[in-house]
Amino acid sequence: MKGLILSGGKGTRLRPLTYTTTKQLIPVANRPILFFVIEQVVQAGIRDIGIIISPETGESVRQAVGDGSRFGAQVTYILQEKPLGLAHAVLTARDFLKDEPFLMFLGDNLIQDGVTGLVEAFQKEAADAAILLKEVPDPRAFGVAVLDGEGRVTRLIEKPKDPPSNLALVGIYLFTPAIHRAIANIRPSWRGELEITDAIQELLQSGGRVLARRVEGWWLDTGKKDDILEANRAVLDAYARTAIEGEVDAGSHIAGRVAIGPGSKVKNTTIRGPVVIGKGVTLEDCFIGPFTAIGDGSTLTRVGLEHSVVLEGCILSDIPRIEDSLIGRNTRVRRAADGRQALRLFLGDDAEVAV
Ligand code: DAU
Repeated sequence: MKGLILSGGKGTRLRPLTYTTTKQLIPVANRPILFFVIEQVVQAGIRDIGIIISPETGESVRQAVGDGSRFGAQVTYILQEKPLGLAHAVLTARDFLKDEPFLMFLGDNLIQDGVTGLVEAFQKEAADAAILLKEVPDPRAFGVAVLDGEGRVTRLIEKPKDPPSNLALVGIYLFTPAIHRAIANIRPSWRGELEITDAIQELLQSGGRVLARRVEGWWLDTGKKDDILEANRAVLDAYARTAIEGEVDAGSHIAGRVAIGPGSKVKNTTIRGPVVIGKGVTLEDCFIGPFTAIGDGSTLTRVGLEHSVVLEGCILSDIPRIEDSLIGRNTRVRRAADGRQALRLFLGDDAEVAV
C-alpha cells in the first residue's frame, strides 16, 4: 500500500503566515504538522509516500522533509500546478499510485490515535474505500456523510448549506484503484474543484463498498489560527515530556511537563507545563503558562504568555499578558507605554508591533 499526503493548496485562511510558509509546515508543539502526519502514515506500515506540493511552497516542503529517510520512509514529490481539488491531486499522482491501494492523508489534519486501525480494517474487509467520520457541531465547512440504520454510508455531500447529518468527513481516506474510475466520472463542483467527496459518492452510486469508521479521540483540521492553537494544545497535552536541556537559574520555577531545548536560558521565570521551548531561547522575568510552544532563538523579557504558539526568532518584551496567540517568525512585540490589557495577536512573519 502507498501513502499520498496532500501538502499543496493555498492556505488562504492562515495568511499572513502562509505568505512565507505552507500551512502544513506551521509547527504545533514546535514540530510541523506534516511531520506528525508522516509519522502516523509510517506507523501504519506505509513507507512509500507521495507528497503533493504546490509551485509556491513545494520547495520549503522538500527542504523540511527531505527524502523521508529520517521518518523511515521513501518520499516522492508530486507537483500539482494548481489547487484544483483533492480528487485532482489524486489524478496528478496517478503515475506514482499505479494500480495499488493507497492511504490519502490531508497534510493539515491530525487524529489522536493514528491510522493503523483503519488501515488494518480496510485490508481485512473487501471494501473499495474507507472513510473516517467525526461528529461536529457545525458540519457546513466539511464533507458530510449520511449513514443508514446499519451504519452503512448512503450519501456524501461536500460542504452542504443544509447538512443532512452532523458527521463530518475527516481528511483521511483509503482507496483501491476503483477511485480512479470514479474520479474520471465527476465534474468540478460549484467552487471549481474536483472533490474527493463527489468521487466517493460516485463510487457508492456505481455499487462500490465504502467502509466508514468513527474517530473516537480528537481530530484536528488545522486550517485556521484557532485550529493551530487547539492542535498545539492537544499535541502538548498528549505528548509533552519533561526534558530540561537548557540552563534554568535558581530564581526560576518549573512545574508540570516542560521541555527546554539546548542552549536555552531561563532566568527568574515561572513555567507551567505542558510547555515546549526550542533551542537557543532566552526567557527572563517571564510567566509561561500551559499549552505554549516557543520556537528556536526567540527572546522573551518580562512577558506573560499562555496558550500560544510563538515561532522562531521572535523578540517579545514588557507584555504582561499574551494569550490565544499565534506569532510568526522574527516578529517583534514590545510595549511602548504602560497598560495592562490582554493582547490577542495573529501576526505574520517579520511583523513588528509596538503597543
Ligand atoms: O479537513 C477535512 C475536510 O477536508 C473534509 O471534510 C472535506 O470533505 C474535504 O474536502 C477537505 O476540505 P477542506 O476545505 O478543508 O480542504 P482544503 O482545501 O483545506 O484542502 C485540504 C488539504 O489538501 C490542505 O492540506 C491543502 C491540500 N490540497 C488542497 C487542494 C484543494 C492540495 O494539496 N491540493 C488541492 O488541490
